[in-house]
Formats: sequence, C-alpha cells, structure tokens
Amino acid sequence: MGSTAQGSIVLAFDVGGSYVKAGLVDSRTGMVVSEVARHPTPPGGKPEAVLDLLVDMARDLPTEGPIGLAFPVVAKSGVACTAANIDKRWIGMNVQAHLQARLQRPVAFLNDADAAGVAEMTLGAGRDRQQGTVMVLTLGTGIGSALFVDGRLFPNTELGHLEVGGEEAEHRASAKVRADRNLDWVEWSAEVNAVLAAYHALLWPDLFIIGGGVTENWSHFGSLLVSRAEIVPAAFGNDAGIIGAAMAAAALASR
Ligand code: BGC
Repeated sequence: MGSTAQGSIVLAFDVGGSYVKAGLVDSRTGMVVSEVARHPTPPGGKPEAVLDLLVDMARDLPTEGPIGLAFPVVAKSGVACTAANIDKRWIGMNVQAHLQARLQRPVAFLNDADAAGVAEMTLGAGRDRQQGTVMVLTLGTGIGSALFVDGRLFPNTELGHLEVGGEEAEHRASAKVRADRNLDWVEWSAEVNAVLAAYHALLWPDLFIIGGGVTENWSHFGSLLVSRAEIVPAAFGNDAGIIGAAMAAAALASR
C-alpha cells in the first residue's frame, strides 16, 4: 500500500445474513470516505448470487488494490469453514480465491466479528485497552464474537453458538431475536445479560465492547446491561466490519 492518500483508500465488504455492505475506507484513519452501499443479502445467501452482487458493488465503488471481505463464517486461509446464517454451500469454498479471480485483485478474507473487533481495538472503543482480555460482540442477525488478549486477536471464537441455558446464545440475544420475538428493551437486555454472564464465566474478560447496528439504541438498553466486566458501546456501530476488513486488506498489501 502506498503512502499517498489515494493509496490508503480501500474497498471493503461486510457480508451479513441480512445485508451486504460496501464502502471505501481510509485504512490509516478508519474513516469511511464513501457512502456505505447496502443491499439485502440475496435470498438464502447463495454463493453465486452473493459473488455476483460483490462484483456489481465493486464496480460502483472504483478503487485499485486489495479488497477486504468480512464474512459471517469461520474463515481460515481463505476458506469458509462454517455457515450459520448463510447458505451451507459456502462451507469448504475458498471464498478469497473466488473473489480474487472475479475481481483480479488481492482479497483479505476474515470473520465479520473479527473484522469489527480489529476496527474497535485499533481505532475505536478498545484503542486504549491493549492489556488484558477484551471481548467485542456484534449483536445483529446472529451474535459475533472477537476475542483479544493483550491486544492480539484470537480469531474465529464463534461464541454466538455457545449454549446458554439450553439454547444457542445467538438464538436468545441477537438483535434479530429482539425484533422477531418483539421483546422490549428490558426483556431483551435480560437475555443479553445471561449471555454475557456465560461468556464471563468462560473467559473472564475485563471489557465487553458491544457492537452491531443495535448500538444506535444504546440509550435504551446500555444502562440495563450488567456484568462483572466493564461494558462499553462500540465506536463504529454498523460500519465496524467494513473498517476492520479494510485494515486487514491494507495489512495484506504491506506484507
Ligand atoms: C456466525 C459467525 C458470525 C456471527 C455474526 C454467526 O452466526 O457463525 O461467524 O460472526 O453470526 O454475523
């Protein structure tokens, strides 16, 4: 990545169970410098349709150089290893290689919550918390988790699938569950608190950073959340995924 302002502008995608987002990010400052384009995820999140959509969205945001791709799966060496809220045919696919072949540009491929976590720990709510254990959670269609120990990411923790009281955490306390079950903020916060307690018992984080679009409503529920760990809202809300993916792409280019 060059050191010119132009050279630090990176195209990044955040593919979710409900929406695909794309934006241009200044990877040095974490500022999103374009409108964030948002399209509904193609029905079922089928691989061909999602890849076609990414190619179309890239055309609308012309840049050069590497691309960041945050995805709601366990991401290892370019390959999707799981698929909870997206078509199962992604499992085993080298998503990085597929998108690289379609766009003829290098792609950094990582879990969406890990991407959000990287953004928060580098430039957001966790930037001054490089010591101890920090857990960044994204409450959206599912629950994403990113675990940092002394500032270093332990990737693919997938704590949204941890069983809490006989149910998967993300089936109790995601933002989608709140909407689907029509829970009020008090009811939903009680579910989130049960999940935070289970995570705390497992890993004893010092800090939870709570992210996802739902943090727009922090004033409604932030004060209802309780844990033995400190709890703060994410700084980047819904844009954290694309910001972290852009940072991962910039890191790829500087290697
Ligand atoms: C997926 C994770 C993802 C999270 C948030 C979960 O269902 O398994 O990979 O980080 O949703 O999108």
